[in-house]
Amino acid sequence: MSTKIRLIGPDDAQDGELLDALARLLATRHQAHRVTAPLLDPGYEEAAVCREHLGAQLSDENVSGAVAVREGRTVGYLIGRTGDGPPWGPSVWMESGAVASQDAETVRDLYAAAAQSWVDAGKVAHYVLVPASSAALVDGFFRLGFGLQHVHGVREPARREALPGITIRRADRADIPVLAELDRELPLHQGRSPVFSAGHLPTLDEAREEWEEDWGDDRFTTFVAVLDGEPDGAVLGSAIACPLELSSLHRGPALADHSGFLGFAAVLPAARGRRIGRALGEAVIDWSARSGYRSVATDWRATNLLSSRTWPRLGFEPTFLRLHRLVGH
Ligand SMILES: CC(C)(COP(=O)(O)OP(=O)(O)OC[C@H]1O[C@@H](n2cnc3c(N)ncnc32)[C@H](O)[C@@H]1OP(=O)(O)O)[C@@H](O)C(=O)NCCC(=O)NCCS
Repeated sequence: MSTKIRLIGPDDAQDGELLDALARLLATRHQAHRVTAPLLDPGYEEAAVCREHLGAQLSDENVSGAVAVREGRTVGYLIGRTGDGPPWGPSVWMESGAVASQDAETVRDLYAAAAQSWVDAGKVAHYVLVPASSAALVDGFFRLGFGLQHVHGVREPARREALPGITIRRADRADIPVLAELDRELPLHQGRSPVFSAGHLPTLDEAREEWEEDWGDDRFTTFVAVLDGEPDGAVLGSAIACPLELSSLHRGPALADHSGFLGFAAVLPAARGRRIGRALGEAVIDWSARSGYRSVATDWRATNLLSSRTWPRLGFEPTFLRLHRLVGH
């Protein structure tokens, strides 16, 4: 059975028949995905919702991709958006609704067709967000040289009791100096082996100023952790909770349904491994339950040995995987 691959781009954003076909594929993909990840937004099970999402994606002038047609039927598609800005550099992003196919070989054909113009234009860092449960997509991209960079996770919110020996409270303005210190801990940790991330590391002064400027923004709830018996009630860790919509990563089909978000957590290096991270994560899970959310989401670098072990222990199940390939050599 021969599969025909055709290139597509922004000119196709007005092609109603094409959009209908792609929308059907995405809706089918999402229906299958929600069997294993029922906390994801059910909206994308509807072809009409997918059509609108894909129409908007395709109208971007930096978008190009490919569709696969077999015996007159559209059986797969892939759409990438090229960019240059920091922190990703010359890159291509295939976002959470950007690819659908039920077989790995079609994924490989689609990418092969679309990637030539990206690499010709110098866009050598390629990223794709795929449903964690889709063997065809994960396997297809794995055999195209992609590896696991980042994980999105979700779980149900639940009321939680405090852990013995650890007090979690809302942050006060007087905590700003230690909150600034904790802000640096994530990029410091992720700048080192084996993450080697190029995330921005603010100076202590910059981090303090940012906290001063943003203090009182009630979209964000900041928790701090104190070990009972610590001198002067020293704060050893912090976590930030907010509605998931405020995250730029969890968009389109990757949006969990009515979800809280564990957007940040850090524990000072000397205090790690004493369940403070668990206590902070559970505070956000509890906050999500009290706020009436149906789910709570977070995400982590697969190469961050601390967060990639902590968040699954707290019950976060992978929903989407961000796979990455750097072309060259
Ligand atoms: C991630 C972080 C917040 C976790 O905080 P922590 O206080 O060190 O973690 P905890 O001691 O609470 O451990 C959390 C859970 O992970 C488990 N865990 C930790 N290391 C583990 C390992 N090597 N193998 C298996 N499980 C491990 C712990 O056993 C614990 O589960 P349990 O309570 O069921 O026993 C902290 O390590 C940190 O600040 N890291 C740097 C910044 C960062 O990565 N932030 C997260 C951004 S996504």
